[in-house]
Amino acid sequence: MSVPAETLQRVATLRTLLHHHAHRYYVQDEPEIPDAQYDKLFQELQALEAAHPELLTPDSPTQRVGGKALEGFAKVRHKVPMLSIRTETDIEASGARNFDARVRRELGLAAQEPPIEYVAELKFDGLAINLRYEGGVMVQAATRGDGEIGEDVTQNIRTIGQIPLRLPSDCPPVLEVRGEVYMRRDDFESLNERQREKIAKGAKGEKVFVNPRNAAAGAVRQLDPAIARQRPLSFFAYGLGEITPPEQGGPKFQTHHETMMALRDWGLPVSMHITQATGAEELVAYHQRIGALRDSLPFDIDGVVYKVNSLALQKQLGFVSREPRWAVAHKYPAQEQMTTVESIDVFVGRTGKLTPVARLAPVFVGGVTVTNATLHNEDEARRKDVRVGDTVIVRRAGDVIPEIVSVVMDAAQVSVHASPHRGPPFTMPRQCPVCGSTAVREEGEADYRCTGGLFCAAQRKQAILHFAQRRAIDIEGLGEKLVDQLIDGDVIKTLPDLYRLGLVALASLERMADKSAQNILLALEKSKQTTLPRFLFGLGIRHVGEATAKELARHFGKLDAIMDASVAQLLEVPDVGPIVAESIHTFFEQPHNREVVEQLRACGVSWEEGEPTARAPKPLAGKTVVLTGTLPTLSRDEAKDMLEAAGAKVAGSVSKKTDYVVAGAEAGSKLEKAQALGVVVLDEEGLRALLADGPSVSSQP
Ligand code: IVH
Repeated sequence: MSVPAETLQRVATLRTLLHHHAHRYYVQDEPEIPDAQYDKLFQELQALEAAHPELLTPDSPTQRVGGKALEGFAKVRHKVPMLSIRTETDIEASGARNFDARVRRELGLAAQEPPIEYVAELKFDGLAINLRYEGGVMVQAATRGDGEIGEDVTQNIRTIGQIPLRLPSDCPPVLEVRGEVYMRRDDFESLNERQREKIAKGAKGEKVFVNPRNAAAGAVRQLDPAIARQRPLSFFAYGLGEITPPEQGGPKFQTHHETMMALRDWGLPVSMHITQATGAEELVAYHQRIGALRDSLPFDIDGVVYKVNSLALQKQLGFVSREPRWAVAHKYPAQEQMTTVESIDVFVGRTGKLTPVARLAPVFVGGVTVTNATLHNEDEARRKDVRVGDTVIVRRAGDVIPEIVSVVMDAAQVSVHASPHRGPPFTMPRQCPVCGSTAVREEGEADYRCTGGLFCAAQRKQAILHFAQRRAIDIEGLGEKLVDQLIDGDVIKTLPDLYRLGLVALASLERMADKSAQNILLALEKSKQTTLPRFLFGLGIRHVGEATAKELARHFGKLDAIMDASVAQLLEVPDVGPIVAESIHTFFEQPHNREVVEQLRACGVSWEEGEPTARAPKPLAGKTVVLTGTLPTLSRDEAKDMLEAAGAKVAGSVSKKTDYVVAGAEAGSKLEKAQALGVVVLDEEGLRALLADGPSVSSQP
């Protein structure tokens, strides 16, 4: 059968593309396209080669495991080849059933014969490493390379604290441990934070990493071990390479699970999510369970791996073209995808901050459909040079807001049909896109701001939402949709207008039932009785958060005293510095702001005024506390308020500087990290004791 000319051409193109992208990925640690796109090209080539076996050549990208040794590291020939793993791309539960059916067929099992025992594991998204221990001492660490020959990266791997350099005396004389070196998401974020600082200071040759896996790969293959040491890496073991055979005194393992438990006993990190599973349905359940947990794991996974548990059965099943028949990777939706930029809009926030947002052709990434990605500010948009018409990589991992990782420069290379049309470089408008007022970027600031103040509808909307939020005046039911209707329909213009709304005006809004209109009016009525700190916070004065509002109320007692305070008087308030004092003073200098306050009072908004009081003792001043999980009776906001009132700083992530972690039900990685760092962990009762008695109280470990 002759092969059509287009097919020959396509096969050649695919091979060129795959060689190029494999080199970018494995050798330069700087991929240009997302994995999912690479897989697609790879599978297209596989399919063409399967349909036309005469086209198959030994140097086809489908015939190698990937990765060539970089110049500069010594080469290591693996004693046992480092294999690849077959990928089940059917991300539905049926993926697991396909694998089970295949295994049973290969083993010649009839339907009525008992189910097969499997081990289910996470598929870590890092890079494969072989650790060689001789006489219990780690003598070598090597990358996978092309599966036969890898690179000696022992120096760099030694910097990973989790990897034991010496094993207990009961380990076999020769032991090769295989596993994944990866970077936790929080470590990745702080590394990139440091990189951005270095770049901002003009450092040459530094770059921001596109994802944790590339950062990890870059660190492992960093020629300078001193730099590698500054890159925080982690490790999980998932298998064996060479091991002393039983006849020479090595262990007699029967199953993969047993092997993994032995590795754990010898001190190697083995994930807590490894489990035994019987038959296809338990694999399906595992896939679902881990899928639900994926975002809350502290590191990226791109799927799960199923392995036949019995080593005898593994042997019987054997391999096809360098992939074992006894294992499969079952993927989840990719966390990086390609899409195109349809426009770049500028969003105006409550304080007038202008934020460029890329509107994207809808793309399914990390389990959700993404249509927007923030570009943060002008500098960031310029640095990434994102333009209308660009093909970009979008990343959404771990429940964070989607981000544009990079522009795919040679979009034409990804698909032979694409013809990219780039728009001009992004520039920030000098006029507010909502109200047309001048937008200015002050010196030393990254952001442009609209100078329109409450004249700007965007700022009015945000100002009203800020005022109405639960932690401020608390108007239940007054959400984004309703505020849009009220402002866009010119029903209200200012904050006091809220309290002048009548049933008729509200009920005449589209999709507003009488009952809901009545509820809004009730909520408005209820909100009038408030406290001075809530009211102050609700006004949305720049730099005045809840804590500052509380301090101001305590220090001055009365609103009028705050409104009339000079900058010098404001500076007497603990925690109020020159920028905050200036901001408060300027705010109350504006006649229209005073007018808003007066009208709100006239509408009946009121609070109890008091006398100035001295600062309450702050038993937890200087202490940093992290909250995680659900507490039995306190909400997160309540716990935070109580802690801040006692002078503690409430932080979002656990580090060596954390003094206490307060953990409730379903506490996740923060609790793990606290335990790993030896930070004191408290439950709600412990928290109450700490607040009552101060840090002297004895706490549970
Ligand atoms: S087993 C013979 N288990 O996925 C099977 N691999 O191509 C060898 N990976 O680069 C691999 N998590 O580094 C196995 N729990 C896991 C894994 C895992 C991640 C990586 C591995 C390799 C790729 C498989």
